[in-house]
Amino acid sequence: MMPRDTNVQGTVFGGVILSLVDQAGFYEARLHGLHRWVTVSMDAIQFRRPVWPGDSVSLYTSTRKSGTSSVTIDVKVFAERFETGETVEVTAASLTMVSVNAEGTPIPFASPPSMSPPASSA
Ligand SMILES: CC(C)(COP(=O)(O)OP(=O)(O)OC[C@H]1O[C@@H](n2cnc3c(N)ncnc32)[C@H](O)[C@@H]1OP(=O)(O)O)[C@@H](O)C(=O)NCCC(=O)NCCS
Repeated sequence: MMPRDTNVQGTVFGGVILSLVDQAGFYEARLHGLHRWVTVSMDAIQFRRPVWPGDSVSLYTSTRKSGTSSVTIDVKVFAERFETGETVEVTAASLTMVSVNAEGTPIPFASPPSMSPPASSA
């Protein structure tokens, strides 16, 4: 984490951590189907320990529940301290993601891939 990520206390801003949680949740959701996925809720967010600039963070995801178009994902965030190398759990959260079509309407995530690869910018 970089100094630009910090709040006035000098610790990493919670919103930066939640952005990482959101992105990690997306990767877990895509294991269930190659679709557009949107976040419908984030719950049970616990900032247990602060994160400091210089810390290296790792996020681990697991699917807790799956429905028709939605999956609920648990995310744990660990920080490896820059000064000591100690690894501590800093944040836990869960989020629910929904697979949607191009119009933003929920679709079953078990349906065939609905996401085309991006056009080449070459
Ligand atoms: C996500 C969205 C498409 C769902 O639309 P909706 O009309 O509520 O859809 P539905 O009622 O048919 O629900 C679809 C699924 O979402 C689940 N869901 C809806 N609201 C939920 C909530 N608050 N928490 C958990 N799950 C929820 C439903 O249980 C259902 O799951 P299932 O298909 O597995 O049974 C819509 O709310 C939306 O577009 N939200 C904005 C998403 C967004 O912009 N996110 C931020 C950027 S990624």
